[in-house]
Amino acid sequence: MTRIFSGIKPTGHLTLGNYLGALRRWADEDQHRAESLFCVVDLHALTVEHDPARVRRLSRQAATLLLAAGLDPATCTVFVQSHVDEHARLSYVLECVATDGEMRRMIQYKEKSARAQVAGQSVRLSLLTYPALMAADILAYGADEVPVGEDQTQHVELTRDLAVRFNQRYGRTFVVPRATRPAVAARVMDLQDPLDKMGKSHEATGGIVYLLDEPDAVARKVRRAVTDSEPGVSYDRAARPGVANLLEILAACTGEEPEKLADAYDGSGALKAAVAEAVVELLRPLRARHAELSADPEYVDGVLRDGAARARTLARPRVDAAYAAIGLLPA
Ligand code: TYM
Repeated sequence: MTRIFSGIKPTGHLTLGNYLGALRRWADEDQHRAESLFCVVDLHALTVEHDPARVRRLSRQAATLLLAAGLDPATCTVFVQSHVDEHARLSYVLECVATDGEMRRMIQYKEKSARAQVAGQSVRLSLLTYPALMAADILAYGADEVPVGEDQTQHVELTRDLAVRFNQRYGRTFVVPRATRPAVAARVMDLQDPLDKMGKSHEATGGIVYLLDEPDAVARKVRRAVTDSEPGVSYDRAARPGVANLLEILAACTGEEPEKLADAYDGSGALKAAVAEAVVELLRPLRARHAELSADPEYVDGVLRDGAARARTLARPRVDAAYAAIGLLPA
């Protein structure tokens, strides 16, 4: 049976980008067609300046949102990365397979290290080695598919390279995974800056729709979205990024094509009104379910405990095999 692994990092409140690019598909499709594991990757949240209490809070909130989005613990495994030692165990081995050059080529490393430097912060070594840990997340489980948004493609490509290299040098140990992406909205852009990704850890929040935003706030952010001064509505990502982003969000909400939707609106005001309504309706059940689940933290803790136990059993033998293959004496 196909195996799927994906993860989400608790560095901020989850956004519409996370939902449309990843989470919705995990819940609506992936968990039903494959043996799936979904992980709150908290170790990754320590790669940038962080407040320990906030990371704890966001980890719990992310796990609750995964369940609220429809991940069913009877169908898939939901857990927290730091509860399963195999991730960190395997990460070190993969650092011994990866090169310094390939880590430095990662776009996210370049962007985030530049941002840290501008803010006068030091760049943590773990920001550089992050992709080795992400590769470990995936390879420990023998995942065939990794459902992600567009921004993670490069990391999954690197994971493939590391798996192939390890297998060639030390014997076949890892499944070589591939990234899968949603048909539309694989890269939801910031409503205030449609040339930049809608990112949960960005500082300016006016262009970011958070999954737990009040409906009024969602509508306001969409109505204030930056578009352009051209009349009418047309779908052209390069020339009209703001309008294209709104069309893609609407397409993701309605299941229609962005090009077709463009013909249905004669101005950006009408388009924004339709997008605002569609997004508010899309998020309504998620918010309601999140409120219910938040009232029962013990249930969420239980799901995470069981999930970690299952994840450990799956990962352990493969990580042990990797240790043996690379030359470490069995314990
Ligand atoms: P993270 O936490 O940044 O994002 C979680 C998922 O949401 C997708 N996503 C988006 N999709 C569309 N538009 C956007 N604006 C947008 N923003 C985020 C991401 O592509 C991702 O699928 N490194 C990963 C977490 C990770 C991981 C893994 C993922 C760690 N280990 C192993 C898969 C497999 C990350 O930072 O995702």
